Amino acid sequence: MPARLFLSSGDLIADRRFEFARDLKLKGDLVAAADLLLQATELAPNFTSAWFTLGEIREQLGAREQAIEAFRKAHAADPDDRHGASLRLIRLGAEALSEMPSAYVQALFDQYAPRFESALVDDLGYRGPALLFKAVLSVRAAARKPAFFRRAIDLGCGTGLAAVAFAKEVDRFIGIDLSPRMIERARATSLYAELEADDMLRGLRSKPDGSADLILAADAMVYVSDLAPVLIETKRVLVTDGLFAFTVETHGGEGVTLGEGLRYAHGAAYVRATIVAAGLKLSHWDGLSARNEDNVPVPGLVLVAAKA
Ligand SMILES: C[S@@+](CC[C@H](N)C(=O)[O-])C[C@H]1O[C@@H](n2cnc3c(N)ncnc32)[C@H](O)[C@@H]1O
Repeated sequence: MPARLFLSSGDLIADRRFEFARDLKLKGDLVAAADLLLQATELAPNFTSAWFTLGEIREQLGAREQAIEAFRKAHAADPDDRHGASLRLIRLGAEALSEMPSAYVQALFDQYAPRFESALVDDLGYRGPALLFKAVLSVRAAARKPAFFRRAIDLGCGTGLAAVAFAKEVDRFIGIDLSPRMIERARATSLYAELEADDMLRGLRSKPDGSADLILAADAMVYVSDLAPVLIETKRVLVTDGLFAFTVETHGGEGVTLGEGLRYAHGAAYVRATIVAAGLKLSHWDGLSARNEDNVPVPGLVLVAAKA
């Protein structure tokens, strides 16, 4: 995991109490850590990081209602929600499922960027781009069409691993990602003609009709709850016969849930229905996992939707 986000309170003494509290937390003295954090928030009532950490500790201590109160204060102190307090509230059943705060995703991956590839590929056995590559080749082979694409868009491109996998098959890549630090890494690959630090939906909306032959989203739709708006835009942006290849994490139930790892899991029936409702054709469907968690494959789907 990336280093923890810290947002200074602007008050030196409150910040120092926070640091002591974090040390106590690491040593396992949760009660003393919670006490110090509360003192820090008395000095600096809008101290987001202190409220957020207090929420985590209270949750660990089994004090659900108090944890909810602390996460609510963290969210109120930072409406952009860089810590993702709203996600913790969803997990605690205190708020309805909603989209991830953009500022949270950006802060998470900005911090993650320097060690993203080693963490994901080496530690979590990440294989999203390779799975998408195989799926796209098989769809093209079944259609007796060459697997060559003039213009591709990589949604949530990260450091550029999908562009590496598809480099020989794509003429011109556009990458879109919320995290400027991830974009910097992607730029260093020299595989993208254009890179945009933006939300994938906003990026797609700025593209002309029929301007891409291939759209990829490798391990990126796990940060999007409602797949419909992205699927509708991909249909508009793709040429006829163009493909949208993406991975999701899934679960055995209905609809969309937010998992323990704070990524969305999309139920199989939901995914299928949303692809069809967007007017795309489901060309490929595989129950394959893009990554491991605790050395166990996370249930996943590899999908290719085509614009007929
Ligand atoms: C797990 S990484 C995967 C990166 C890359 N696709 C790969 O296969 O290595 C997820 C990426 O999606 C980006 N992301 C998440 N939600 C996004 C959104 N709504 N718009 C644009 N990028 C997003 C994150 O910033 C992060 O770089």
